[in-house]
Amino acid sequence: MTTTPPAPGATPDAIPGATPGPLAAPGWVEELAARADAALPDYVSGYFHSAAGDGTCAREGVADWDAFRLRPRVLHDTSEVTTATTLLGTAVSSPLVVAPMAQQVAARPEGEVLTARAAAARGHLLGLSTNTGARFADVAAEGAPWWYQVYVCRDRSVTARLVERAAAAGARALLLTVDTTSLAVEGPRLDPSNWVESPRKNRTANLTPAEVEAAGPDGLAMALDLTPDVIGWLAEESGLPVLAKGVLTARDARRCVDAGADGVVVSTHGGRRLGPSVTSAHALPEVLAEVGAEVEVHVDSGVRAGHHAVAALALGARAVHVGRPVMWGLAADGADGVGAVLDQLQAELVTCLRQTGFAHQRDLTPADVVRRA
Ligand code: LAC
Repeated sequence: MTTTPPAPGATPDAIPGATPGPLAAPGWVEELAARADAALPDYVSGYFHSAAGDGTCAREGVADWDAFRLRPRVLHDTSEVTTATTLLGTAVSSPLVVAPMAQQVAARPEGEVLTARAAAARGHLLGLSTNTGARFADVAAEGAPWWYQVYVCRDRSVTARLVERAAAAGARALLLTVDTTSLAVEGPRLDPSNWVESPRKNRTANLTPAEVEAAGPDGLAMALDLTPDVIGWLAEESGLPVLAKGVLTARDARRCVDAGADGVVVSTHGGRRLGPSVTSAHALPEVLAEVGAEVEVHVDSGVRAGHHAVAALALGARAVHVGRPVMWGLAADGADGVGAVLDQLQAELVTCLRQTGFAHQRDLTPADVVRRA
């Protein structure tokens, strides 16, 4: 059996005029992950899979999305379904965003350039990690809208230069990671600094060797002393809107918005922050209730299917970021693999919208989903 999601339109058994069903067999994400694992050294695949603690949050992050059921409606005109929208003013074809992920050059040497190519061909937005081995200009040249994910370095001048360069290269917003005061992905095997052939040395692709030298390892390490004023500082340095990524409570969402954040991403860092953490599905409603009327609220962590995205959109998220499945597609099949993952999830999303009687996700409401007891 093939493990790659087929291209869109590959529905030979479709009833003429009917909505295409799921395009890949159930379990396609797991099969893709297995193919990616087989293509990668253990220390790389282990890093991509790794989760905080005993993996509770990573597991429950998926399970909590899976617990939602849609409430199909009938006799609504769904002859034309579109998911086109804007994200902080940027036009995109879909609310599915490629989450920023570190070390993509470890999945494929061209890393994010291939991810951006697949996103560009389909009109998706992507996040670009600070831990990238790709140069801003090369990612931007692929033509996809992109946001730069920021880890604030202890040497703030390094971060100032990076965000200025990202803005100059065409980044349209900053995704400020606010959750990783310590990366809870533990064990020497899972630390990229211990990798045999370490792509980590490339993570400074957007700094000059002299800048790397001057900052030193300490200066490049993540700052642990962040407070909300960092949001305004980044906005000023870059001239870009800033979304705070990694918020899980209403109170923190309020602090971020009061400090000038233009958006919030509800995220558990793919379950890599804290084992016994609440999940994104759990936290999303309270964050929306607090700041959803003022700023865009996005969500990530644990999204593996179109119906997961529909649940998030119905609760009120404006966009849903997808991480590991994209990385696995990249590792298994390069840009084609990323494209196949995006096509599959997008097709599932459209099918769910159509079968719940919606021509666009904007009309979904929390009443259109129910959490299974
Ligand atoms: C990770 C960090 C580096 O999750 O964002 O791997």
